[in-house]
Amino acid sequence: MAKIAPSILSADFARLAEDIGKVERGGAEYLHIDVMDGQFVPNITMGPPVIRSIRACTEMFLDVHLMIDKPERYIEAFAAAGADLITFHVEATPHAHRVLQSIHAQGLKAGIVLNPGTSLETIEYLLPDLDLVLLMSVNPGFGGQSFIPQVKAKIQALRAMVEGMGLTVEIQVDGGVNRENLLDLQAAGADVFVMGSAIFNSEDPEQTTRDVREMLALQGK
Ligand code: DX5
Ligand code: ZN
Repeated sequence: MAKIAPSILSADFARLAEDIGKVERGGAEYLHIDVMDGQFVPNITMGPPVIRSIRACTEMFLDVHLMIDKPERYIEAFAAAGADLITFHVEATPHAHRVLQSIHAQGLKAGIVLNPGTSLETIEYLLPDLDLVLLMSVNPGFGGQSFIPQVKAKIQALRAMVEGMGLTVEIQVDGGVNRENLLDLQAAGADVFVMGSAIFNSEDPEQTTRDVREMLALQGK
């Protein structure tokens, strides 16, 4: 089943609860939360205190995307704040498997993220231990960038790899996803779609969420 993960990076941070309510009412499955540290990526966003406040105002599944160096330092803090899924970048730690184990030890789902230029081979051996793989389709750091077209073939290759191994790992795509390329990416094999600006910069984020879910469900049949 395809899922939508609205990214609050493009929401109004002064009206976060209100904006989250819109995508929750629109039926979004995941709430995508971008954590940036100003080191791994050139931008700074939010940390555990904000996630704790979000946890208190929604029932949604909290999908926490860590764009931070040495994520192993903060797994417990993000788990305690209320994350349901933690994803971290393979480029950000020398001990990816250990980080995965520590996320699972907290009772959470675990996923790994690849920058556009990082090859699938770097995570092939980790696939049996993963709940999700996130393929970045922009260089991480900012919302509102354009989709990098070469990532489509990477989605297809990952889908083939996952199926070849008989696994049920979710494939998430993040960056420049919009109504125009959504179905193409679903056909390529993605099943969780992060959408920031395409949802929160639209006139009616609740209706947009409903519309994109319907598009995915129709093609999925
Ligand atoms: C970028 C973030 C994305 C971002 C996507 O580094 O990881 O989640 O919010 O924004 P859009 O959908 O506008 O490209
Ligand atoms: Zn993200």
